[in-house]
Amino acid sequence: MNRKLGGLMIAGALLLGGGLFLMSQQNDVQAEEQAVAAVDPDLPVVTVYKSATCGCCKSWVTHLEKNGFKVEAHDVGNMQEYKHKAKLGAGMGSCHTAFVDGYAVEGHVPANDLKRMLLEKPDISGITVPRMPMGSPGMEVPGREADAFQVLSYKDGEVVNVFTDYPAGSVFE
Ligand code: CU
Ligand code: CU
Repeated sequence: MNRKLGGLMIAGALLLGGGLFLMSQQNDVQAEEQAVAAVDPDLPVVTVYKSATCGCCKSWVTHLEKNGFKVEAHDVGNMQEYKHKAKLGAGMGSCHTAFVDGYAVEGHVPANDLKRMLLEKPDISGITVPRMPMGSPGMEVPGREADAFQVLSYKDGEVVNVFTDYPAGSVFE
């Protein structure tokens, strides 16, 4: 390839990269505005404990806000303390731990499952999506279909039930 053509291609790539960056900035602003507009005063506040560097945790918080929840997010150093408080058993953990109305919510649980739990008030410690399934809320990858995953209800470290079974290709707002 000659040098002129190579230079043009690099310039083009830089322009495209800059444009994509601006677009993503705009989307963030739009998402924030939507989140503020949608707060449902009848829903309890969700308190989230996460590490400061976790990007998918932040995306999950945005997902909750878009679905009407007010969220108080705290960046913490030691997550173990909160996993213990949530009464999670072995293999049930994920990246962030949240609490709402006396229940624990672990990982990338869809907002609708929080709402259902708050309505049904089951006798459990909380609900969890263990690990971080691709395509669960906050774990979306553009152009990739969501993996199948389950929301589990648990009590005192033991799984109680499959709370919701999400098939592959599920889409979350
Ligand atoms: Cu995560
Ligand atoms: Cu997280």
